[in-house]
Amino acid sequence: MQLFIDSADTSEIKRAAETSACDGCTTNPSLAAKAGREYNEVLKEICSIIKGPVSAETVSLDAEGMVKEGIEFSKIAKNIVVKVPMTVEGMKACQKLTKKGIKVNVTLVFSANQALLAAKSGAFIVSPFVGRLDDIGEVGMDLIKDIRLIYNNYKFTTQILVASIRNPIHVFEAAKIGAEIATMPYSVFEQLFKHTLTDVGIKKFLEDWKKVPKKK
Ligand code: G3P
Repeated sequence: MQLFIDSADTSEIKRAAETSACDGCTTNPSLAAKAGREYNEVLKEICSIIKGPVSAETVSLDAEGMVKEGIEFSKIAKNIVVKVPMTVEGMKACQKLTKKGIKVNVTLVFSANQALLAAKSGAFIVSPFVGRLDDIGEVGMDLIKDIRLIYNNYKFTTQILVASIRNPIHVFEAAKIGAEIATMPYSVFEQLFKHTLTDVGIKKFLEDWKKVPKKK
């Protein structure tokens, strides 16, 4: 399973990359606004840090505009994946970009039918948002189970990227279902390494180490 960092903050992206557990990066306009840097410039820097896929999101509402933006993004680096929204125009753009050999991530997916359409449009990645479904009282992870089943039924190769992750439970649930990728904020990524009993264990070992006779 691949773990991605969902961020446009290059200092935390660097920290994640140093662990070698980070396989890629996803960005979006909200994250770019938070980082407060010019989007193409920050994408270029992210692509120099992360060797795996880096998703860059288009903002046009029509297919033509999305394709144009996607082509520009693809010139930044080889590992750029172009994000388009799940709309009729987005799916037109997905097909066009895919035909040009540009990988596409279909984002803002909230239903299994939307995921089916993304796969039929040739998406390299589909991004269902689990946290935002949980927020409105639906079970986000049920959507991942449904998409996994549908993609297996028809042998779609589109990779399921679980997005809008809010906690470590989302990550292991996604792994149990067999999603190919989970993208998460740095705060969640960091939490994956931690367990209270690990900290307690280290403390105990260090205390006991003091009692081990040392060579004089
Ligand atoms: O990758 C999409 C993700 O950034 C959305 O997360 O927390 O804004 O729902 P969130």
